[in-house]
Amino acid sequence: MNTEQRNNATKTMLGLKLPTDPRWVNIAEKNIEEILIDHAYCEQKAASSCISLIIQYPEKEKLREVLMPVVSEEWAHFRMVLKEMDKRGIALGVQRRDEYVHQLYNSMRHGGTREQQLGERLFLNALIEARSCERFRLLSQEISDENLREFYHELMISEAGHYVNFIDLAKEYLPADYVKTRWAEWLETEAQVIDNMELRGDRVH
Ligand SMILES: [Fe+2]
Ligand SMILES: [Fe+2]
Repeated sequence: MNTEQRNNATKTMLGLKLPTDPRWVNIAEKNIEEILIDHAYCEQKAASSCISLIIQYPEKEKLREVLMPVVSEEWAHFRMVLKEMDKRGIALGVQRRDEYVHQLYNSMRHGGTREQQLGERLFLNALIEARSCERFRLLSQEISDENLREFYHELMISEAGHYVNFIDLAKEYLPADYVKTRWAEWLETEAQVIDNMELRGDRVH
């Protein structure tokens, strides 16, 4: 896939404004141990984030209905990554600082209604799913380990589904025009975060 095709795939699939630097996947492949460790924690944080949303918005039945299965899927992903690590004799180690998520978190808008606050968290989660999906696609297409290519292909499909879940939930609790406007702002913010981040192959994001 050439750069233009990659750019178009990113835009049409996920709405992301800036495709990942094509050098990332090559550096990541050389640091696959670090990628797997970081990835394991991404899955754990995804599960934890959904649990936290369910607990903090107990009155939102639709949210609970949609996110309970996502918790199970993210936890299954966590276990899948640990299994791949076990096969390769890689220990989990301590969690790394997640600069990407940290910067997105700092971009959240404070105040507004309870639903708007929920929206911020849903958009944040949706963006992390979208970027993860985009990077898993690169790994599934470009790395030489056949087993890991399949592994990342499967995860890419699952994370794309979660991205849709979060956007649909935002539409459930907020007016369509608000979602459209705020999501467009978030996409711009995410592109700036990616653009300003150091290119490193030891992180999923
Ligand atoms: Fe996941
Ligand atoms: Fe996910």
